[in-house]
Amino acid sequence: MLQAIEARGLAKRFGAVTAVEGVDLTLAPGEALGLLGPNGAGKSTLLSLVTGLRPADRGEIRIFGHPAGSEAARKSMGLTPQSAAFPPQITPRELIAYASARHGKRPDTDRLLTAFGLQRLIDRRMAGFSGGEVRRVALALAFCGAPRLAVVDEPTTGLDAATQEAFQSLARDYVASGGAMLLTSHHWDEIEAICDRLTMIDRGQRVLDGTLAEMRATMRINRISLVVDGAAPDWLPAPDTDGRRHLESADSDAVVTRLVREGVGFRDLLIHPLALKDILAHLRHEV
Ligand SMILES: Nc1ncnc2c1ncn2[C@@H]1O[C@H](COP(=O)(O)OP(=O)(O)OP(=O)(O)O)[C@@H](O)[C@H]1O
Ligand SMILES: [Mg+2]
Repeated sequence: MLQAIEARGLAKRFGAVTAVEGVDLTLAPGEALGLLGPNGAGKSTLLSLVTGLRPADRGEIRIFGHPAGSEAARKSMGLTPQSAAFPPQITPRELIAYASARHGKRPDTDRLLTAFGLQRLIDRRMAGFSGGEVRRVALALAFCGAPRLAVVDEPTTGLDAATQEAFQSLARDYVASGGAMLLTSHHWDEIEAICDRLTMIDRGQRVLDGTLAEMRATMRINRISLVVDGAAPDWLPAPDTDGRRHLESADSDAVVTRLVREGVGFRDLLIHPLALKDILAHLRHEV
């Protein structure tokens, strides 16, 4: 199958700063890949190489088989950069018509306008748009004209909770209908909600890569918390400031059985699977 993105050995320096160093990336149609990493890790730089906005110093990138930055590659993708500014005189309707035309399709914009609450704004000049309103327009532009690949850099930063949810739902539908999506986010729950696979980069290098399902399967650890009235056995950790004792275990049933067998006076027992954030913290200690 032709990959939406096939990148090998990407590298990019800015003077003395190595922003990206030897990163491989693949993305199939119908798949969402989340790019994670601390500030300055190289995520946006990597996206600029994939979208052809900057040439790579080294490495090769193909978008549906075409070199990154080529006309064919450009036409197959929609993009929302981390920050975008628009001419003050322009309206969202004009921008959407322009962006849709690039994909050679009639704009089917109703869903987008509803999802991003743009109906009221569609014919207003963008001068005076709030930060979140500009962001909503920038996001809609990545999807209008139904591109085969959507590349979005920190899509929901600065958006209200309702619009974040609307974006996640739209993104899931886009991917379910065969779209390929590459996104960066500092919101782990967003990655968890949208992505099949994630790649973590740090100081320009890939430090972790895999499907969320694989990561969860290797980390079948539950987080247990409870309150103990009276004496607690030595094997339980001391209470936190919230008065609860917290522990992690691969066999939470055994922990509960032991509590009961030893007659520990516990209450308010909570058992949760590890969140993605904790799974990644565990896995990173292993790499
Ligand atoms: N045009 C540029 N000139 C000089 N240095 C740059 C330039 N663009 C990026 N860098 C540097 O490259 C590194 C990677 O930056 P990048 O924007 O890719 O990080 P990021 O992972 O997107 O971070 P954030 O989470 O803050 O958005 C940083 O050290 C940054 O200062
Ligand atoms: Mg960035």
